[in-house]
Amino acid sequence: MQIAALKERASGEARVSITPETVKKFIALGAMVTVEKGAGETASISDAAYEEAGATIATAAKAVSGAEIVLGVQAPDVAALKGAAKGAWVAATFDPFGDKDRVDAYAKAGFEALSMEFMPRITRAQSMDVLSSQSNLSGYKAVVSAANEYGRAFPMMMTAAGTVQAARAFVMGVGVAGLQAIATAKRLGAQVSATDVRSATKEQIQSLGAKPIFVENVAGIEGEGSGGYATEMSEEYQKAQAELVSGHIAKQDIVITTALIPGRAAPRLISDAQIATMRQGSVIFDLAVAQGGNVEGSEPDKVVTKHGVKIMGFSNTPSHLAADASALFARNLYNFLSAFWDKEQGKPVLDEEIGDAVRLTQGGKVVNERLLG
Ligand code: NAI
Repeated sequence: MQIAALKERASGEARVSITPETVKKFIALGAMVTVEKGAGETASISDAAYEEAGATIATAAKAVSGAEIVLGVQAPDVAALKGAAKGAWVAATFDPFGDKDRVDAYAKAGFEALSMEFMPRITRAQSMDVLSSQSNLSGYKAVVSAANEYGRAFPMMMTAAGTVQAARAFVMGVGVAGLQAIATAKRLGAQVSATDVRSATKEQIQSLGAKPIFVENVAGIEGEGSGGYATEMSEEYQKAQAELVSGHIAKQDIVITTALIPGRAAPRLISDAQIATMRQGSVIFDLAVAQGGNVEGSEPDKVVTKHGVKIMGFSNTPSHLAADASALFARNLYNFLSAFWDKEQGKPVLDEEIGDAVRLTQGGKVVNERLLG
C-alpha cells in the first residue's frame, strides 16, 4: 500500500496534506509514503523532515506512480494522477457542489474521490472533520486580522493619558469558526456579542461570556437543519433579523461574519446601508467571502473601504495559518484512513455510514446521493 501526497497546485494554497507526524503513523500501519519534493515548504516543513520520518521524496510523477491512496488539501487535477494505481482513492476537499467538472473527471478516470467536506457530523467522525479543524483556525485568524486592520485597541486600557475604551465585537454565525472568533475576541479584551439562526447557540454564546443577540417570537427561529447545519430562513424571520441586527451593528467596532449554508451561496447578512451606520474605522471580516460573501461589497483578499468602514476577507483563511492548518488537516486524514484500516488487507476498508457519505465517484460513475439527488 503506497500513500502519496502532492504539492498543492491551487493558487494561494499554502497548506499540505501530510506532515512528518502522519508520515510516521502511516508507516506504522504498514504503508509506504511518497511525498512530492517541496510539498511542505509553504507550511514550514522541509523535505528533510519528511525523509527523517520515513517518507520518500520524489517528483510529482514518481510520487504518484503506483499510489493506491493520494492525499490532498484541495483535490489535484486528474492529469496529476497519471500513473496512480487503477481505482486509486483520492482523499481531499473537492468542492463537490461548486466544481462538478472535477468530480466528473474523477469518475471518468476511474478514481475514487473521497470528499472530506462530506464527512458526516457524527460523534465518531469529529476527529476526521476538516471543516471543523480548519474553521476553528479561521475563526481565530479572522479576529486577529481584523484587530490588525483596526486603528484602535481591543482591550480597555487605563493609562496616565486617559482611558482607551474596549472594542465592541459582534460575531454573526456561531458555528465552529464563530465560537473560536468569540473566544479570541474575548481573550483580546473586546466586549463581545453574537447571533445565529440556530437557537441552540444561545447557551454556547453565554458560556463563552458573550452576549447573545436573538430575534424573539418569530416563527422559524429554530433554523437547525440536518447534521447541525443551518437551513434557509423564512422571509419573516430574515426581516426581523435584519432589523435587530441593524440597530446592533451601528454600535459595533468589529464584526465577524461566518454564516454558511451548504451547497448555496452564503446568506447576505450586512447591507451597504447598515455599513453606513457604523463608526468610521470599524472593521468587518467576512469569513464567507469566498462563498459569495455575507457582507455587501466584500471582495476576497482585499480591504475595501466603504463609508469609512474597512471590509475584508480571505479567499482561503486557513492557508494564512498554513503550519497549524496543515497539522490538523493531516491528522484529520490520518484519523479517517486509520479508523478503517484492515490489518489483514493492509489497507482501509470504509463502512457504509462514512464511506457512502464521502465517496463521490466509484467504478467510473458519480455515486454520491447528494450530487445525484
Ligand atoms: P457552518 O460553517 O455551516 O455555518 C456557520 C454558522 O452560521 C452556523 O452556526 C449557522 O447556523 C450560521 N448561520 C447560517 N445562516 C445564518 C444567518 N442567516 N444568520 C446568522 N447565522 C447563520 O457551521 P459549522 O461551523 O460547520 O457548525 C454548525 C454546527 O455543526 C455546530 O453546532 C457544530 O458544533 C456542529 N458540528 C458538528 C460536528 C460533528 O459532530 N462531527 C462537526 C462540525 C460541526
